[in-house]
Amino acid sequence: MNYRHAFHAGNFADLVKHAALLDLLARMQASPGPLSVFDTHAGRGLYDLAGDEAQRSGEARAGIVELMRAPDLPPALRPLRQAVVRLNGGEEANLYPGSPLLVAAALRKGDAYLGCELRPQEHSALGEALRSWPAARTACADGYVEVAARLPREGAALVLIDPPFEKSDDYERCAAALGALTRRNPAAVVMVWLPVKDLETFDAFLREAEDAYDGPLLVAEARMRPLTDPMKMNGCALVIANAPEGFDVPLKEICEWTVSRLGSGGKAQVWTA
Ligand SMILES: C[S@@+](CC[C@H](N)C(=O)[O-])C[C@H]1O[C@@H](n2cnc3c(N)ncnc32)[C@H](O)[C@@H]1O
Repeated sequence: MNYRHAFHAGNFADLVKHAALLDLLARMQASPGPLSVFDTHAGRGLYDLAGDEAQRSGEARAGIVELMRAPDLPPALRPLRQAVVRLNGGEEANLYPGSPLLVAAALRKGDAYLGCELRPQEHSALGEALRSWPAARTACADGYVEVAARLPREGAALVLIDPPFEKSDDYERCAAALGALTRRNPAAVVMVWLPVKDLETFDAFLREAEDAYDGPLLVAEARMRPLTDPMKMNGCALVIANAPEGFDVPLKEICEWTVSRLGSGGKAQVWTA
């Protein structure tokens, strides 16, 4: 396992995923009653954009740095900008929140969060990042296994599945999790993030997900450039089971802004599979 999210924090794919996550959370929290949130692949929670990894990759410069100074940010991306402003105390954006911190800061009384992280070093940083949020817990464990065992069998629940895709079975495990988690709790909303490298791999995943999950899947794709080099991450996508009604509208806004402002020759699409 070599993947370190510090190289990629705040890149275009994080913006799509995190803006969508904040919108989804707000939609689910509009209903009364407690919400349980699970992050199968949590990462370290907090990222230093002035640090060596972020500076070497330059991905945040082409992502969150552009978003912070955009004059025309659509409503669906504004909560992410506000979260980054709050985290940095209104100063220049040197820190970027991962999904655990974004969720922890949005929890209401009675809500709960569990972030799973397999790498001990990342897990220990995650615990540190979440220390001010007692309702946000962590597990140093395989997130697919842990969440499959701990997801409540009923009640409002949101699961984010955000693997590094460095192992070829991540696609298979994500598709299987969409089915297994929604069978365990039919009310659970499950959102999978995946990279878009080439159409063959993306389509194969969608077919597997459709076989595993017996219902409509909402799919949002931010293709940042033409898919000419399958070795590159040319875009990203979100695939959602049990998506709340109307969630396609902010997804479209998020993908269209990201592709048109940060991409080159790509396209944004949202559809139901
Ligand atoms: C893409 S990063 C997560 C980013 C995070 N969700 C966010 O949005 O801020 C993926 C993380 O999953 C961890 N990881 C890899 N395999 C895992 C597994 N089976 N279970 C839990 N964590 C895993 C990696 O160490 C890495 O930190």
